[in-house]
Amino acid sequence: MTQYVRLGVNIDHVATLRNARGGQDPSLLQMALAVEEAGADGLTVHLREDRRHIKDDDLWELRAHCRTPLNLEMAATDEMVRIALKALPKAVCIVPEHRREVTTEGGLDVVNQQSELARQVAKLSDAGIEVSLFIDADDAQIDAAADIEAPVIELHTGEYANAVDTHAQQVELDRLVQATAHAQSRGLVVNAGHGLTKFNVASIAAIEGMHELNIGHSLIARALMVGLPAAVHEFRAIMDRATR
Ligand code: PXP
Repeated sequence: MTQYVRLGVNIDHVATLRNARGGQDPSLLQMALAVEEAGADGLTVHLREDRRHIKDDDLWELRAHCRTPLNLEMAATDEMVRIALKALPKAVCIVPEHRREVTTEGGLDVVNQQSELARQVAKLSDAGIEVSLFIDADDAQIDAAADIEAPVIELHTGEYANAVDTHAQQVELDRLVQATAHAQSRGLVVNAGHGLTKFNVASIAAIEGMHELNIGHSLIARALMVGLPAAVHEFRAIMDRATR
């Protein structure tokens, strides 16, 4: 099976490192341009309520200077929707957000927030933004996403990434494969992300019909060792080997 799976690079942790000292180093924009130059298909940033990664000014700067499609991860709050409608990124990925979590811990509960999410999805879609919902590999959540006419879902790969042994990992992979097929049967475009590394990304890239993977922490961590362009190239090569 041959397919091209897009690589979206989440550069939040460049901002996290910069924020550790409150100055300008490393420059988020320079790193974004390097990711772009290295051939990534997309840039992803998460504007959190507490602004612990990127700040509002980062968003405007990325919009002004980057050509690679920008994917803005955000909670479905009125504040964030207002910002997205002003920034007009190519895509918005709606994620659940809890102040005290270290990172996004689980998928959105679309089933139980259907009307509120439908309202926010419609506003963003009407502005021409491609909306995705970050959800677990669960048919009920997928059906709820399709019902509110979100065009894209991003499947949470955290359980797969955190599996303690190869059997558990296979169980999670099977769930992701089945969920992808189900989502596609409902007309949804399927992305995936969270916890993906050089060592576990191949099987996810190889899922039939997978559209895009969003990878952050492990790619930025790898960049400390080999440099950002090389880290992007490494992930790209692994994904291509898995799909050719
Ligand atoms: N996709 C979504 C929706 C996320 O929230 C995150 C984490 O911010 C990622 C992908 C990237 O996850 P990781 O940093 O573990 O690669």
